[in-house]
Amino acid sequence: MEEDSNFDANNIKRVSVIGAGLMGHGIAEVALLSGYEVSLVDIEESAVCKGRTLIDSSLRKFVEKAVITEGMYKQLLNNLKTSTSLEESVKDADFCIEAIPEQIKLKKKVFKKLDILSPRNALLASNTSTLSITHIANFTNRPELVVGVHFSTPPVLAEVVEIIRGEKTSERTVLRALDFVKAGNRIPIISKDSPGFICNRIMAPSMLLVQLMLDNNEYTPESIDAVALNKKMVMGPYELLDYIGLDVVYDSSKSLADNLSPDYSPTKTVSRLVQENKLGRKTGEGIYKWRSGGKRPIIDLSYPANYDIMNLMRVQINEAVKVFEEEVATIQDIDIGMTKFYHNPSGPFELVKQMNLSDLTSFLDNLSVKYDKEIFRAHEWIRDNSLLKRIGNE
Ligand SMILES: NC(=O)c1ccc[n+]([C@@H]2O[C@H](COP(=O)([O-])OP(=O)(O)OC[C@H]3O[C@@H](n4cnc5c(N)ncnc54)[C@H](O)[C@@H]3O)[C@@H](O)[C@H]2O)c1
Repeated sequence: MEEDSNFDANNIKRVSVIGAGLMGHGIAEVALLSGYEVSLVDIEESAVCKGRTLIDSSLRKFVEKAVITEGMYKQLLNNLKTSTSLEESVKDADFCIEAIPEQIKLKKKVFKKLDILSPRNALLASNTSTLSITHIANFTNRPELVVGVHFSTPPVLAEVVEIIRGEKTSERTVLRALDFVKAGNRIPIISKDSPGFICNRIMAPSMLLVQLMLDNNEYTPESIDAVALNKKMVMGPYELLDYIGLDVVYDSSKSLADNLSPDYSPTKTVSRLVQENKLGRKTGEGIYKWRSGGKRPIIDLSYPANYDIMNLMRVQINEAVKVFEEEVATIQDIDIGMTKFYHNPSGPFELVKQMNLSDLTSFLDNLSVKYDKEIFRAHEWIRDNSLLKRIGNE
């Protein structure tokens, strides 16, 4: 289907958010704060009620902190409609963004319906973390209007949003998605449709490494997280796994194993914990026991492991080079993503400039042998010392 040439790319007024869970209600709040009329829809009445309550209390906090006025708070809530009818919610939407569970069968059903029920020029976005946008777009008759818009959690605090360009996504659709993200004062970074996109892909080997260390009982999770916290990282890697949810970690490992390398297959400890329904923060127990109300575990910072936390950055650098070589994203977007999506102190390409590439090669190759994982092996451009020259002009 051709895009309507009269359509003004900047003219998004009504946004429909499909799925009112953890991400959906947060994305709806961001859309409200961006000035849009928002319709939040879910199949569960209880989910839309909870979503509205959470948005209300979050906006209240913004009033208390004088970020918005009482009048704006009332106006924003007036701009929010909730529904359990997809037809009602999307019938005059300019921009639909889906945030339902990460199951391709569910996404297929919803995107087929969105294609029928929403106006023919409406943009259809997915907040998927791992599924292919090209695949999702092909469930519709308007693949050029389908795009990935991937927020980190919680969306209201997300500084950066990944925009994923599917094989058939049009340039105009990318521009409209950029407008949507910029309207919320977020920084957009653009990714090719590739497993894990930018940030989850680069995080993946370091998350795998800490899981393998856990399987081998090399250090206690508390002692590694203490090293990270002492280095002023926002969260230690084990707490982060629990925070994301071990079920989500397990599913993304499977997806990366299927689509990138079998090296990413779910690890022993995480698989066991998922089987025992110890999913982390959401169930109160995972790698850690969480305090009531999902409060963060208390980590004793006076017992850090004798471990160089930069090792996690070293494996991320190796993966970032692959992401750049595969033309998934620019160096600039990779560095912005890793510092603002995952709050690393520096981006991988900024860091590598201060490193000895021969030492980095030995470290990565040793790691690859130790854990029998090809994905840790040093990238050719690190090994042959050509990396800095290759990225010099970027
Ligand atoms: N949780 C995270 O940290 C995170 C981060 C980034 C992206 N994501 C992605 O965001 C999406 C949503 O994740 P979540 O954590 O918010 O899930 P969630 O389980 O908290 O919420 C999903 C909601 O979708 C609703 N739903 C299910 N089928 C529906 C349908 N047909 N129509 C309307 N609503 C429907 C459910 O009732 C539920 O309320 C997933 O694709 C996930 O991969 C999650």
